[in-house]
Amino acid sequence: MKTVNIALPKGRLGEKVLKMLDDAGFSCPETKENDRRLILESADGSVRYFWVKPSDVAIYVERGAADIGIAGKDILLEYSPDVYELLDLGIGVCRMAVAAKKDFRDRTDKTLRVATKFPHIATAYYEKKGRDIDIIKLNGSIELAPILDLSDVIVDIVETGTTLKENDLEPKETIVPISARLVANKASFKFKNEQVKRVMDALSKQCAEKR
Ligand code: PRP
Repeated sequence: MKTVNIALPKGRLGEKVLKMLDDAGFSCPETKENDRRLILESADGSVRYFWVKPSDVAIYVERGAADIGIAGKDILLEYSPDVYELLDLGIGVCRMAVAAKKDFRDRTDKTLRVATKFPHIATAYYEKKGRDIDIIKLNGSIELAPILDLSDVIVDIVETGTTLKENDLEPKETIVPISARLVANKASFKFKNEQVKRVMDALSKQCAEKR
């Protein structure tokens, strides 16, 4: 039997997908409390799960270290990995948005300072609008940037909007809706097609039931 290697994003989304796969019969082994193991293998050897930093899932899949994985559309748009996008899981739903202080007014005679973890998405968005920008690449706590006048706006993920609200910022424009996607390595899709499709169909069914 060919084992399907699945990269799961560490965190709530990954746990949800693991539970869905377990319910669909792709049993995962018992995990202990505070389990630090990064690899879990099903007793029947049909699947092996890896816990990966969410932004790294696409790299594991693109390079074939994992056959399939669960990645946010934000990561796929930002890094354009050479993988197949098989399924929109309809979970992990949020949006990529431009946000700023409430009283922010765009002065188009000046270069716009944009703080973000997603420089490619932000650049493509403003290029389309023909707006001159200066990208300030940060790795987290993006909301601080406009507050400290490090940037004029931010381009970031907005889910509930609470982080923006609690920092006196507000969403100004939506760039693109985001959700979790099932992605596959191109060679695995060919050579483990039957196994990959079984996982895909199972996830598709589970997601439809949960909607
Ligand atoms: C994301 C994003 C916002 C927050 C938005 O951060 O960067 O800070 O979630 O969620 P909300 O609209 O529900 O408040 P994440 O939790 O992924 O952490 P990170 O900044 O470390 O990536």
